[in-house]
Amino acid sequence: MSVPIWLDCDPGHDDVLAVFVAAHAAELVGISAVSGNAPLHRTVANALIAVQLAELDVPVHAGAAKPLTREARHAAHIHGESGLGGPVLPEVTRRADPTPAVRALLDAAEARDDLWLVAVGPLTNVALALTLEPALAERLAGISLMGGAWGPGNITAAAEFNVWADPEAAQIVFESGANLVMAGLDLTHQFLIDRERIERVRALGGRVARFSAELLDFFVEAYERSYGEAIGPLHDPCSVLAVTHPQLFASERRHVAVERRGELTRGMTVVDRRSGGMPEAPNTTLLTRIDDAGAFEALVAALGALP
Ligand code: RIB
Ligand code: CA
Repeated sequence: MSVPIWLDCDPGHDDVLAVFVAAHAAELVGISAVSGNAPLHRTVANALIAVQLAELDVPVHAGAAKPLTREARHAAHIHGESGLGGPVLPEVTRRADPTPAVRALLDAAEARDDLWLVAVGPLTNVALALTLEPALAERLAGISLMGGAWGPGNITAAAEFNVWADPEAAQIVFESGANLVMAGLDLTHQFLIDRERIERVRALGGRVARFSAELLDFFVEAYERSYGEAIGPLHDPCSVLAVTHPQLFASERRHVAVERRGELTRGMTVVDRRSGGMPEAPNTTLLTRIDDAGAFEALVAALGALP
């Protein structure tokens, strides 16, 4: 019996791979798009492209066009202006579902009591849903989120992009009381894609695999330009795999809070990993290790099974 998942995302190269893994390894109930890697109109279009290419009967809903209180910021340096730089993008023939993302997510959670919310973009939609309906925190089986770090950031020295883009939203989520599973950069940088692995994906031969390989070509080139090495972390699939393949992970229970006022530390996740003293009561299952080889095999299995 597949685990039911609602995927909130900002496609984004790694977000699209998260869609494909969820479509194969879970019951993908719905997708909501949020402003993040690219503006909302692009993240919606890119999510539609993903479901179209994989021939998925999964609704895509448009969510927040900007963070709760801050201006929208994007990550074109990694994902390109379209949000899916690299491959020639197909004409979008699918249409987004007219129900707004927050309403659709709340309805999906109301309709069943075993739904996992996987959030792999800025947490604006999730925070809005939790604010509108606080009982969502208990209703959901859990929230598996890609965001934050206990070590260095990526968009700044201190902060990871998803949390940095909307720190106020992230704090609402960490304070919500939901069953939280956090894949921060310290985890996601253990699941790496390089050119050798890209060729394994391309050799799968299907439309989705070929498209994914072209996305990954662009993705590792962006990392080569930004960080000097043609190796990229597959952030977002980690948060899907944490739900579908929990055996691939090690974790700790920790308290996580979000810095919202710091001039240099805006969006930093403060993870209390003290072993002694008076550590804050844990509110999060912090993923600390991933079986990189096992995760890649799960990705290959998904991409090889789709059209
Ligand atoms: O910092 C990595 C995160 O930011 C990933 O979710 C990536 O898709 C971008 O949204
Ligand atoms: Ca993302």
